[in-house]
Amino acid sequence: MKKILFASSEVHPLIKTGGLADVAGSLPRALAELGQDIRIVLPNYQSLKKTEDVRFISTVTVNHIDSNILETQLPGSNVIVWLVDCPALFNTPGNPYVDESGNPWDNIADRFSLFCRVIVEIAMDRGHLNWRPDVVHCNDWQTGLVPALLSLESNAPSSLFTIHNMAYQGMFPATTFNNLNLPLQLWHHDGLEFHEMLSFIKGGLSYANRITTVSPTYALEIQTPEFGYGLEGLLGHKHKVLSGIINGMDLDQWNPETDTAISEPYSFKTLANKMINKTSLQARSSLPVNKSVPLFGLISRLVEQKGIDLLIDCLTEMVDMPLQLVLLGSGDKSVERKLLDFARLYPKKVSVTIGYDEALAHQIEAGVDAFLMPSRFEPCGLNQMYSQRYGTIPIVRETGGLADTIEDALPKSLSNNTATGVSFKEVSSGALLEAIKRTMLLYHDKKTWKKIQIAAMEKDFSWQNSAKQYLALYQEI
Ligand code: ADP
Ligand code: GLC
Repeated sequence: MKKILFASSEVHPLIKTGGLADVAGSLPRALAELGQDIRIVLPNYQSLKKTEDVRFISTVTVNHIDSNILETQLPGSNVIVWLVDCPALFNTPGNPYVDESGNPWDNIADRFSLFCRVIVEIAMDRGHLNWRPDVVHCNDWQTGLVPALLSLESNAPSSLFTIHNMAYQGMFPATTFNNLNLPLQLWHHDGLEFHEMLSFIKGGLSYANRITTVSPTYALEIQTPEFGYGLEGLLGHKHKVLSGIINGMDLDQWNPETDTAISEPYSFKTLANKMINKTSLQARSSLPVNKSVPLFGLISRLVEQKGIDLLIDCLTEMVDMPLQLVLLGSGDKSVERKLLDFARLYPKKVSVTIGYDEALAHQIEAGVDAFLMPSRFEPCGLNQMYSQRYGTIPIVRETGGLADTIEDALPKSLSNNTATGVSFKEVSSGALLEAIKRTMLLYHDKKTWKKIQIAAMEKDFSWQNSAKQYLALYQEI
């Protein structure tokens, strides 16, 4: 049995802004089910969903700042969660990265460097918790300083760093390095310095014993200039300790047979019931209730990564086609505005909800026929897996985890019943529109459509296999 300290800046259902939370809320559970002793560590944000059973267990002092360690459990499991409670830094409204108006926290480096230092204290068993991990599993730049700081300790546990997204690196001016009082030994090209700036992610990439990312294809892509954001050289150099492990999904939370957020449960045996979810979604979205028109959906952070601009460029043509669209997301204000404009101009075709709404996300997955993910890059992506489980056909750009989890509907895959979606290669609105048209043709061939739906619903996206791959890495290091 391994003792694993799992560090993440978000964990579903306690706090979530994106897929990292889904992973941090489900991978530890899968590892616990494999008999491992795993504990999660997370900042105690003001907006954290309150759980009933939270108790104070110790106080840790770093850099003259006291943090209380509060213990609770991951809802619906026995996994222990340690909350780093430092009110001066985390007791503010807003989400982990931005304030209520959407502006990045101006003290974000202080926040996550404190978080990292407390993790190191816990990892070195100096947090009075009487527990010493064998491995610290860090996720994304917010935990990047942990492997770096552990490298300066003797008898430190091993560390594994998982990249969920290379586009977010935690870069700050060099003066921040001094302000944070970080050990001088870490300031060099093979350390935390990146073009004379402080890079949190480099702490993970340079010092962790192992590096993983969330799909095999993305593990290769980030070793190229297009996806590596200047760190492709370092990642190429580390290729022997870098690997891609595809994310699994939470099969309990995203289960069309038991989902309480949707109008009517269904399975591949009762697929006709999916129609009830479609008509209720149309009604709820003030679209004409029409069983036969193909209904397309999208749920996303509205950022460049997700290729929403490609979709916006297609919308003028799409509104002339016999289809409907339900979109849910938030992010870039100009993208939000453009989408809302389309919804206002074409209320019978396009419904747009700006915001974050988990229940609606489930209703969209259950209610739409096809799900759009035209991402420029996608380290893994989770919605294309949720879609498949809900018999909703994903339309994806062939990149990262999207390439690894979708079997394009081509003559061969259709004939051997392995097709589960539609994919396109080129980053262009033309290629996306082509894929949408191809999907419409498939949709109107009822027998083929059902075949794709069933193949998608029967696919195994459980954590079991991937959790075993992480465990093998923990054992190796
Ligand atoms: P990323 O982490 O890059 O945002 P993923 O596909 O890995 O992309 O995960 C996104 C997660 O966030 C999914 O669970 C998705 O359903 C959820 N999500 C994104 N935007 C919203 C929203 N506006 N409302 C509800 N859920 C959302
Ligand atoms: C990141 C990526 C996304 C991935 C998620 C969880 O947010 O953008 O592709 O699914 O992390 O690993």
